[in-house]
Amino acid sequence: MEKLVITGKTPLKGEVVISGAKNAAVAIIPATLLINGTCTIENLPNISDVRLYCDILTEIGAKITWNSEHEITIDTRNIDCNNIPIETTRKFRASYYLLGSLLGRCKSAKVGIPGGCNLGARPIDQHIKSFEALGANVDVSGGNIVAKAKKLKGTSIYMDVVSVGATINAMLAAVLAEGQTIIDNAAKEPHIVDVANFLNTMGADIRGAGTDIIKINGVKELKGGATYSVVPDQIEAGTFMLAAIASKGDITIRNCITKHLESIIAKVVEIGGNVYENGDYCRVWYTRRTHKATIKTLPYPGFPTDLQPQMGVVLAISEGTSVINESIWDSRFQYTAELNKMGAKITAQGKSAVFEGVHELSAAPVYASDLRAGAALIMAGIAAKGKTEVYNLHHIDRGYENIEEKFRKLGAKIERVIEE
Ligand code: EPZ
Repeated sequence: MEKLVITGKTPLKGEVVISGAKNAAVAIIPATLLINGTCTIENLPNISDVRLYCDILTEIGAKITWNSEHEITIDTRNIDCNNIPIETTRKFRASYYLLGSLLGRCKSAKVGIPGGCNLGARPIDQHIKSFEALGANVDVSGGNIVAKAKKLKGTSIYMDVVSVGATINAMLAAVLAEGQTIIDNAAKEPHIVDVANFLNTMGADIRGAGTDIIKINGVKELKGGATYSVVPDQIEAGTFMLAAIASKGDITIRNCITKHLESIIAKVVEIGGNVYENGDYCRVWYTRRTHKATIKTLPYPGFPTDLQPQMGVVLAISEGTSVINESIWDSRFQYTAELNKMGAKITAQGKSAVFEGVHELSAAPVYASDLRAGAALIMAGIAAKGKTEVYNLHHIDRGYENIEEKFRKLGAKIERVIEE
């Protein structure tokens, strides 16, 4: 079993370059199935979810050439719509994008009910509602989702819940539908805009991504032939911003889009951190103990749920009593039990947690319950006194490229060790 061994109380100092966004990449890769041609994708993060998706597309018949660690050329002219590796699709949440893209391209799709991080209930009713509105029949049985349509016809879809996945899936299914589709109450995350920009680069006609109303005029086919660069990862950038504060350090974060980080910048400054920003980079540094805050996670442009655990580490060692309300997921506080093993004083109840700030955390063996909790525990180990061991690294490797290397370059004493 692998673990990270971290010797703490190490202020992180220096520069980090942010990778391409995981949550854009895991939608853009399946979106290439809509193209009857080839395309090249640059700035892909080198993470296991991306490699897994490339394996799935290869099984479906796509030809994938790795031009470099972060760039692929995909030829999707000869795919077999029925040859989907169902068991592999169960391994992660984003596999449900195969439904939208294969429904759009082949008018049929079948995937395993998606797995992914255990954050509580992860319904897909809004995805199904969108496909049915476009004219598809969707059957969920035997642990699989099967979608079929004679024809997909543009329509109006009102999302009952602001959903990143459902917004993207509806867009994927609508791109080759007949006529116009309007998605109302759409999610506005940067990765949604990135998927729309990718599809438009390949010949789609999508307007309004990034607002709550997206209009898609169906086109006959996507020819591809272009190159697209994945947007920098807003959540990875936010992770390093908060790591600068938790470790009492000073980090310059390169290749980020500060416009996507407004809610995090505002909170870091509000609790007493320092931020200098300039379009595609920002510098975050610690000068004095941070003080309490109230955080409510919300869809973009609100404070992102994917930075909630990382913010929890900062609040656990801030002065005063802080509160986090998690409005997106039912169960995203498992990490607080791990921080309490390190001396934090956190009481989590349902979708809220109260943090009584302590001066210092101390090392302990801790277990990541999901991707972002894992990143938070690494931050905690870097800030804490002593030698912390972080387990369940597979969660972290899904979404952070070379995370220990990036932290090590900032001065962290961190090693990946195989434990017999
Ligand atoms: C995406 O998940 C991200 N994953 C998650 O990031 C992120 O936490 C989430 O968006 C919110 O930003 C990927 O992009 C692969 P949602 P998704 O649909 O699309 C409810 C990470 O760490 N809902 O926006 O699954 C749902 O229960 C991961 O990178 C329905 O009710 O999230 C939740 O309360 C973790 N019905 C809310 O909407 C539906 O049909 C938001 O979920 C769909 C969602």
